[in-house]
Amino acid sequence: MKVVRTIDELETAPGTGLVPTMGAFHDGHRALFRAARAENERVVVSLFVNPAQFDEPGDLEAYPRDEARDLAIAEAEGVDVVFAPAELYPKGFATWVVSDVTGAEADSRPGHFRGVATICLKLFNIVRPERAYFGQKDAQQVAVIRRLVRDLDVAVEIRVVPTVRDADGLALSSRNVRLSPEERDRALGLSRALEAALGAPDPVATARAALNGLEPDYVEVLHLGDAMVLAAAVRVGSTRLIDNILLEGEIR
Ligand code: PAF
Repeated sequence: MKVVRTIDELETAPGTGLVPTMGAFHDGHRALFRAARAENERVVVSLFVNPAQFDEPGDLEAYPRDEARDLAIAEAEGVDVVFAPAELYPKGFATWVVSDVTGAEADSRPGHFRGVATICLKLFNIVRPERAYFGQKDAQQVAVIRRLVRDLDVAVEIRVVPTVRDADGLALSSRNVRLSPEERDRALGLSRALEAALGAPDPVATARAALNGLEPDYVEVLHLGDAMVLAAAVRVGSTRLIDNILLEGEIR
């Protein structure tokens, strides 16, 4: 496995699958790497904690980082190249991709999707992948990226991989390592509330009522392409967690 630190050193090749990440790998990342490995001749994983998508400075500072562990996991999963640049915003950077896609997550985190859309377009231009892989947990991010690719004619196929959960239902997230044992226990209220709303006549009201005291940023039904998703964000201590479940259709 090659570790590449600069854009100049990164080679492009046909048959490349890209998994964009911010590191702190867990089984959700492993699922993305495996999906990419199964469909592409060459798998590139980008590892860059993108400051532009953090709307709270404390969250950026506290974001978990463990590159040595990440590289070992990527290597074990058969990744060909890890692109881990120190910086991707040249001095005087002044051009942003601003998405008008609306939704609860966009409203709740102003500027977040501008950072995500900009870095993803940069990564697509740098890596030139045929396919790029994202997790269903970030369903609203997927909606923004799909629209970006369509609107700006980017020749990349966006693939969505189902959310990976711990045995008790908690959706895997790099931020979970920040939860104390007591907070992790409370965080379970999120997946349980979404689960409880499956099949309910009013899923939003049912999920809200089942949140077991967790304070929601939002609980909302979102239409993502053909799919209908119940999505929620909550705060557990200083950690913000998101999750969603499919109510109808398929996220493609
Ligand atoms: O989902 C993430 O980890 C990030 O938003 C992404 C897609 C790597 C962009 O920085």
